[in-house]
Amino acid sequence: MKSSPENNPEKTLENRVQSGPDGSLFVRAPAKINLFLHITGRRDDGYHFLESLFSFTKKGDLIRFLPSETLKFSVSGPFSEVLATENPESNLVMKAARALAEHAGVSLGAVIELEKNLPVASGLGGGSADAAATLIGLNALWKINLSDEELAALAVGLGADVPACLSRGAQIVRGIGEKREQVELPWSAGIVIINPGKAVSTPEVFAGFRAFRDKRSLPPFDVTITDLDKVVSDISMLDVLTSNSLQDPAVQVCPEIMEVERFLRLNTQNELVRMSGSGASVFALYHDKAAAESVARRAREFNSDWWVMADLIGG
Ligand code: C5P
Repeated sequence: MKSSPENNPEKTLENRVQSGPDGSLFVRAPAKINLFLHITGRRDDGYHFLESLFSFTKKGDLIRFLPSETLKFSVSGPFSEVLATENPESNLVMKAARALAEHAGVSLGAVIELEKNLPVASGLGGGSADAAATLIGLNALWKINLSDEELAALAVGLGADVPACLSRGAQIVRGIGEKREQVELPWSAGIVIINPGKAVSTPEVFAGFRAFRDKRSLPPFDVTITDLDKVVSDISMLDVLTSNSLQDPAVQVCPEIMEVERFLRLNTQNELVRMSGSGASVFALYHDKAAAESVARRAREFNSDWWVMADLIGG
């Protein structure tokens, strides 16, 4: 069932790069879904140890790379507004480009165009996926041929979720995000993802996790899962045996999460409904994409302020 990303040729990072007719390269940066997320400890520097099952949708952001003498970054798409007002150097895409150039000792440039289709600070790993896609795209554009391991080492310096976003395959992620084990999900499902339209700060939610556990006299951390194969192989097992430990502290920061969860629970037949990452996006799994699309339509009618996406996951 398990194999490492490095020795699975179908999941190599190079396969994520597509060529355009004009010499440009494209890399898709899909949404990351934490099918479960447990917090198993805390490092002295405040970072938390996780045990999490990451999986990726098909749709997401899209990044285009063109040769150029200098580094230029632009952003378009439905969620470009906030990013367009920020200093481009503070975007993880530019940080990834600079880190790669420095590591490889190159002074090449690139035009990098980000189509921002995923909401920002939404628990879907959009920024991390964009950074990972940038490492992959520029590694190809600049022909520097860094190995997957070297890219992963650079990725963890950019953010805890970035190494996992290098691959589009499902993975069990441990450590603070740097330990990854590829898994095959023997199921596929339609998925609806809803974001209530409020950005949530990841550090704030992680800080709230500790306070939440302390206040309720709960054990400080989750125990690691012993029978992972069983959990991964079956959606109902995932539902019963796992959770997202950041969901309660996230609800304290963003109560709208409860409203989205309630809507999805009323529109599923006991399938998995859960928040992803540190929120505020909540997802539900369905038998197929058509079922997911029908619930997505209902969700848009129910609350036109929500961001709603239907897609496929797993398999
Ligand atoms: O690494 P990244 O920038 O994604 O993390 C944002 C913040 O989330 C960190 O500064 C930290 O507060 C928290 N975090 C954590 N443990 C992790 C990942 C993130 O405490 N494994």
